Amino acid sequence: MFGLFKNAHVVPDLSFIGVDMHSHLLPGLDDGLVNIEDSIAIIKELPLLGYTKLICTPHILSDYYKNSPENILPKLAELQMALNENNISIKLEASAEYMIDYDFEEMFHAGKQLLTFGKNYILVEMSYVAPSPNFEKMIFELRIKGFSPILAHPERYNFYHQNFEYYQRLKNIGCLFQVNLLSLAGYYGKPVERVALKLIKENMIDFIGTDLHHINHFNAMKTFVAHKDFYKIVKDVPLKNKSLLV
Ligand SMILES: [Fe+2]
Repeated sequence: MFGLFKNAHVVPDLSFIGVDMHSHLLPGLDDGLVNIEDSIAIIKELPLLGYTKLICTPHILSDYYKNSPENILPKLAELQMALNENNISIKLEASAEYMIDYDFEEMFHAGKQLLTFGKNYILVEMSYVAPSPNFEKMIFELRIKGFSPILAHPERYNFYHQNFEYYQRLKNIGCLFQVNLLSLAGYYGKPVERVALKLIKENMIDFIGTDLHHINHFNAMKTFVAHKDFYKIVKDVPLKNKSLLV
């Protein structure tokens, strides 16, 4: 990792991203941050990197992460209060990262409230083991109801790596794509990095997200964004992150 980036240090400036729309910084809800103190320690550094707004997206995944607006929104209020007490100034919102499975389908059909952001965007994911059988169906149904689904880290679904045309199909049916910043650093391995770069080259990326789960992610990210080659990789990506500022 970072082999290409020797001796190319710059002052990190992620203000061209501005809004992070994928993280697990709300503590104690999923496999992300555990303690509020650790959340604060990371969040207080994010404005220094150029972020002005964070949209936290805890997993909602059937019996594993049984999150909902009922527990996510109070956690957001708790974290906001802690940030205020620590004089940390950054806009904070909460949404979710929805696993597309049959439980999601059932919840959607039951008309339960979905946590969206911006222009009715909804962040969705699938398992790393196998594609969601109902994925395309749910993308269609979400779009019919006026939602704009964003697939989290498409580059991390290895089962599509040898089938790049399928990414184009997902784009064609109206799915937006969010690449993980650390995928571009090779953090999740070379094949993921390669596909992330190809998605960028093919102009298929709409958002960059941190997908921060813990301090190791944050430390790796800080190292990566202090190298000028990161900025070369992403300079022509027509990112929609900043549209989320309002
Ligand atoms: Fe995530």
